[in-house]
Amino acid sequence: MIRGIPVTDAASTVDELTAQREHAMTDHAALVALGLKLDLTRGKPSPRQLDLAEELLDWHGAAVSEDGTDLRNYGGLQGLPELRAIFSADLQVPVEQLLAAGNSSLELMHDALVFALLGVVPGGERRWVDEPEIAFLCPVPGYDRHFALSERLGVKMIPVPMTADGPDMDVVERLVAEDPRVKGIWCVPKYSNPDGTVYAEQTVRRLASMPTAAPDFRIFWDNAYAVHHLTDESVQIADLLALCAGHGNPDRPFIFGSTSKITFAGGGVAFFGSSPANIVWWLASTAKRSIGPDKINQLRHVRFLRDADGLHEHMRRHAALIRPKFDAVEKVLSAELGGTGLASWTSPAGGYFISLQVPEGCAREVVAKAKQAGIALTPAGATHPYGNDPADCLIRIAPTYPELPEVEAAIAGLAVCVRLVGTEKLLRDHQG
Ligand SMILES: Cc1ncc(COP(=O)(O)O)c(C=O)c1O
Repeated sequence: MIRGIPVTDAASTVDELTAQREHAMTDHAALVALGLKLDLTRGKPSPRQLDLAEELLDWHGAAVSEDGTDLRNYGGLQGLPELRAIFSADLQVPVEQLLAAGNSSLELMHDALVFALLGVVPGGERRWVDEPEIAFLCPVPGYDRHFALSERLGVKMIPVPMTADGPDMDVVERLVAEDPRVKGIWCVPKYSNPDGTVYAEQTVRRLASMPTAAPDFRIFWDNAYAVHHLTDESVQIADLLALCAGHGNPDRPFIFGSTSKITFAGGGVAFFGSSPANIVWWLASTAKRSIGPDKINQLRHVRFLRDADGLHEHMRRHAALIRPKFDAVEKVLSAELGGTGLASWTSPAGGYFISLQVPEGCAREVVAKAKQAGIALTPAGATHPYGNDPADCLIRIAPTYPELPEVEAAIAGLAVCVRLVGTEKLLRDHQG
């Protein structure tokens, strides 16, 4: 859902448009001549953000947990309780229902799907692999790796439009009620990837309470940006786990999170939370693939973050580094494209992305023109299942990794490409 200037045909005459296109062509040629090499493709923390957690590497001390367990040894499949306690409130999962695992929540989402395909989930009648077909609802725009994972494991994807409050719940309720093939939905409930949407309380309530044709329906609740605020307001969402339990659907949510964008993206800790029955099921499945997670790394995280306040303080340091980059995107886009009718964009209050909407049929061309100028963007369409944005109008901007001057240069260059492709399209429309 894009908030901002609606994409409209602002320019009026063919002569004006022709002049604008000539201007944009000259600017684009000059841009290409600069020989830039800028990358806005992936939502990665910058080296300076990673430096914030450098202390993790300096840690020395006894590898013993609060209860006296020697963490150098095998075991402890649930993960370190003291680390789970730090994240319990922010992930809205009681400590005893929260597991701490390896470094990637995406791996846990993969495992959850594989475990459900190859073993009956609580409340289910048969393994998902034994169904003729299974499907997941995919709010769009969404996270490309959710879609890639679904495709890889043979899960049919059904797009559902996003609104300012989360997925369009009228559509979701209808589809889950009438189609038993629909076994799940992908959700990024806070500062969603890529449009920064925060699910409204009513959306979460409806997800928790809606009747589903599949008795083993699951909400894959990827709370990747639970503590990743860009403003001083720590936005809260409704508690899905509690609401599901309250509505008699305790086993519906699978909750995921990680420290990938808190400490080290390549050396953090991932979390899985759910109902008691699902946790028993999960542990039985995961016990076959691991004798226990990297508890030494989990202990390092406990020593580094200390408690929930320490975590929040650490996230404020991240915000101080990345907020200026989000502000720069907003400033350059407003200056270069504001009022042109060629683009609108999101102004997220957290997370890692900004969504740019360009006129229909232009996103791929804009990304291609940017590539010619040495500006790498996430492929257009990546925000949709099967890489197909039917309107071809969405571009995901990931401003966290490059340094501020590079962000400014890349967005200014992107704006030139939008002006060029957009005016060409308007001219074509005018000429019929
Ligand atoms: C919504 C979302 N989920 C999960 C991930 C990846 O998480 P992890 O590093 O824990 O595998 C990302 C990374 O960009 C993301 O945007």
